[in-house]
Amino acid sequence: MVFSSSRRHWISAVRLAISLFGLPLTASSPGARPAVLCSSHHLNRTSTHIKPICGGYYTSGIGTMSSPACPHVKSRCPQYPESTIKRFTVPEDKVDWDEKWPQYSPVSHTAPVVLNKPIWADPDIGSFSPNFNAVDGLVDRSSFEGQYKVENGKPLNPRGRTGLTGRGLLGRWGPNHAADPIVTRWKVDASGAKIHHSASKKPILQFVSIKRRDCGEWAIPGGMVDPGEQVSLTLQREFSEEALNSLSLKQSEKEDIHKRIQRLFGSAGFQVYKGYVDDPRNTDNAWMETVAVNFHDEAGNSVSELPLQAGDDAGQVQWVDVDSSFSLYASHSHFLELVARERKAHW
Ligand code: BGC
Repeated sequence: MVFSSSRRHWISAVRLAISLFGLPLTASSPGARPAVLCSSHHLNRTSTHIKPICGGYYTSGIGTMSSPACPHVKSRCPQYPESTIKRFTVPEDKVDWDEKWPQYSPVSHTAPVVLNKPIWADPDIGSFSPNFNAVDGLVDRSSFEGQYKVENGKPLNPRGRTGLTGRGLLGRWGPNHAADPIVTRWKVDASGAKIHHSASKKPILQFVSIKRRDCGEWAIPGGMVDPGEQVSLTLQREFSEEALNSLSLKQSEKEDIHKRIQRLFGSAGFQVYKGYVDDPRNTDNAWMETVAVNFHDEAGNSVSELPLQAGDDAGQVQWVDVDSSFSLYASHSHFLELVARERKAHW
């Protein structure tokens, strides 16, 4: 599910996981972060020149490293999504919480859908005081950004002011964890030879992209990590639901998909990014974080052969050329740039 898969009761995710993948869902042990998928050979592989552009952590030849500040731009978009709410304007030099700004008067907004107390959302602070900066029962409230501050019982966005307090459209106070499967293949001609870009002379990668129903933007078919769910499972589940419409497949079709996805997702993933996402839904007290993992079908004979079919919250799905001119949701372009560099592909 794209927008908030936690809108589904997590038990249904258990059922789905078992029926589609035959995978057990492992609840994270207390105090531990749910495991992040990355086959060890891939985490240890030598990757040469991935350079950080946005925040978070990225894979490089010398391990996982922290990267410099993320542009905090979509998180300050004037118009809050799916509402008529306008954020208090936060200029670049006032983003940092350490910058004294007594005039700061953010707008408070929590979407009605969140206030309706769906299963995927926290209650309001006051009646509720969760364990922030920790795995709290099955909900991971720790941040990839390190310890975040909690002020008057509410967590503070580690990247600074957004012009809006409350949770907006996000269910969790503090970090809301997502996972993004970036499934790629080479663009080939009728004879199977790689097609090179006329300007960069580099081979062109294609990735599976969905058009989100909520905002109409093209995106990676990611979604929210359900409580207690391993990220490795979220990646497979979201890809299957969004890009293969697995929720409405017959059992026999599910089995074939399951085999192919397990083969690709089980052995070829490398973690592209892990950290804060500059997402338009972010607020001063609730924000998105993600783990983006690339699964590359080098020979074009695994997932590439499956018919794509938009499902769940995806309006459309297709293979799209990886190219810097293609505009994508939230920080997704940044993730693709990292993939293109890693695979020495056109960008
Ligand atoms: C989306 C992910 C995205 C994340 C942060 C989630 O709702 O499904 O694709 O990376 O939000 O923007």
